[in-house]
Amino acid sequence: MRMVDVIDTKRNGGALSPEQIDYFVTGYTNGEIPDYQASALLMAIWFNGMNAEETQRLTMDMLHSGDQLDLSDIPGIKVDKHSTGGVGDKVSIPLAPLVASLGIVVPMISGRGLGHTGGTLDKLEAIPGFQVEIEEDAFKKQLREVGCIIAGATGNIAPADKKIYALRDVTDTVSSIPLIAGSIMSKKIASGTDALVMDVKTGAGAFMKTDEEAEELARTLVEIGKGVGMNAMAVISDMNQPLGKAIGNALEIQESIEVLKGKGPEDLVNLVLTIGSQMVVMAKKADSLEEARTMLQANIDNGKALETFRKMIEAQGGNGDVVDDYTLMPQAKYKIAFTAPSSGVISRMKADEMGIASMMLGGGRAAKDDELDYAVGLMLDKKVGDRVEEGESILTIYSDRENVDDIVKLIGDNITISEEAEPIKLIHQVIM
Ligand code: URA
Repeated sequence: MRMVDVIDTKRNGGALSPEQIDYFVTGYTNGEIPDYQASALLMAIWFNGMNAEETQRLTMDMLHSGDQLDLSDIPGIKVDKHSTGGVGDKVSIPLAPLVASLGIVVPMISGRGLGHTGGTLDKLEAIPGFQVEIEEDAFKKQLREVGCIIAGATGNIAPADKKIYALRDVTDTVSSIPLIAGSIMSKKIASGTDALVMDVKTGAGAFMKTDEEAEELARTLVEIGKGVGMNAMAVISDMNQPLGKAIGNALEIQESIEVLKGKGPEDLVNLVLTIGSQMVVMAKKADSLEEARTMLQANIDNGKALETFRKMIEAQGGNGDVVDDYTLMPQAKYKIAFTAPSSGVISRMKADEMGIASMMLGGGRAAKDDELDYAVGLMLDKKVGDRVEEGESILTIYSDRENVDDIVKLIGDNITISEEAEPIKLIHQVIM
């Protein structure tokens, strides 16, 4: 087989045969197919898509490129959650300990930032000492002792995804339904979870810009999960404006802790409880979503969820005292207010551009090997629908450089103040 023929099939809009998909995944993972040919195929897939059989084969090939975790010796239903990526989307961080505080096992395999979106692992590394690379034995030990873990794909889980994901990030081929589905589901099947809630983001800050695309991705993800016997479902949630108020690594950890103290911003708390309730029902710890929500709220109120987070941090080598003292994390040198140029109501705050602003401050990577500045980012004082007076702060820029004119310009271009604003609906749809 020749890679040019595989590229040719997809470039001309054809369906790849199972053998062609096997050839690409195996050949690229073991280094026989060069980046330039893999990039050409990814771009052809981006333009022409893949049918259900192709997507299924791609996922299974990526799964079989590495090892699978066997969690069957850990009692109970294992439940995980995964997001397709957003701005200010720190849901996984309070969610895992919150759900685990009810005695549910949450083995969470997360990723790093992709494009303008932040990564859960990057955020957690803002906590001094926190380790995300955990060997299989330690992974299982922590699940038994703490009930939850948030880590990177251990050792040899879906190595094909690691390589393809990195290439997609730099070839602008992330936002493709079959490629996202294969990437997420190969890792999730390999991680040995029994049940999975996907948070599929839709809107300006999401890879899926419309509800139709988000629904198609959600259905694809759920179908692949169910096809391998996993109890899978998806929540489609809004990503037109950033989620919560914090964007940036240490700032998002701080906000996650606030959620566990019962003081989180309304939209973030709502999404954490919505997804969490689904997980509790899937784990068969509650009969209804209402009952599950009440149980989760109780463990926020009585401090058990926060204690579980402290234990999770300590089990992963981090300083658990951050839950009481945020200054243990890196702190920005400058805090600069971005103020309203006129009075009115905020009608637009484009999530992707706010993510790019945080990235430009050093909170995200422009190139694969960039070092992150954990302290920087944005803290929103206002959200879409809020009234603002001229000169009042809309958000605060946390920066380690004094001159932020470029950031102020970018933010100014992407916030609109009008007479009134269309309300933003947080949960668009639930796909079972
Ligand atoms: N998250 C993933 O793990 N993969 C993608 O392709 C997008 C989001």
